[in-house]
Amino acid sequence: MASVNVLIAFYSRNGSTEALAREIAEGARSEGADVRLRRVRDIVNQEIIAKVPGWKENADRMNGLYEAPTEADAEWADGIAFGSPTRFGNVSSELKSYVDSLGGLWFQGKLVGKAGSGFTSTSSLHGGNESTIITMYNFMAHLGLIIVPLGYADPAVFAAGTPYGASSVSGQNNTPPTPQDVDVARFQGRRMAQVASALKAAGETRTK
Ligand SMILES: Cc1cc2nc3c(=O)[nH]c(=O)nc-3n(C[C@H](O)[C@H](O)[C@H](O)COP(=O)(O)O)c2cc1C
Repeated sequence: MASVNVLIAFYSRNGSTEALAREIAEGARSEGADVRLRRVRDIVNQEIIAKVPGWKENADRMNGLYEAPTEADAEWADGIAFGSPTRFGNVSSELKSYVDSLGGLWFQGKLVGKAGSGFTSTSSLHGGNESTIITMYNFMAHLGLIIVPLGYADPAVFAAGTPYGASSVSGQNNTPPTPQDVDVARFQGRRMAQVASALKAAGETRTK
């Protein structure tokens, strides 16, 4: 496969979305992709953050591991996977703050034709994982990304039943993604690398 760049831009507070992001990265790398794994920074007032046990500690840990995503990362990427915990059935404002920073690239049409996909984590079953990923389809359409759902294109999706994108259910005790969730996330990474590579090759042919 020709060289392909995959950006995984996620927000995570407790680590579930982060865990999926890492598996997507693994899947993309297994297809030979260069991967940038990036955590969007917190935007909530520090006083609120301090009131929630573990929030600051988790954020400090993740911020030590992952740079914040930038405009340059989005421009570099041939495919972008967006990850966010569910917030009232929707995308977190933290992930959205990154998306909203891409207006300049949007205006210049710089993201048109790249691959895009979404993944999420909820605390409850049917707590909004599908609606959260579908909400991501809205901004992906505006950005001109070619939306890449998973379909049932891999046995892992038949087991987990998540054709929109990888997801996990963390419950009340921050349960990590199940082995089936991990398989789906790895498939999402492989598929992103494959589709982004094909789109990149098609784009290069068109400009010749
Ligand atoms: C403000 C807020 C809203 C939330 N809304 C939902 C929701 O609508 N449905 C749900 O199942 N979980 C909801 N959750 C729980 C998180 O989405 C869930 O714990 C998720 O697994 C966290 O992912 P993370 O570990 O990557 O931070 C909400 C959490 C917060 C703080």
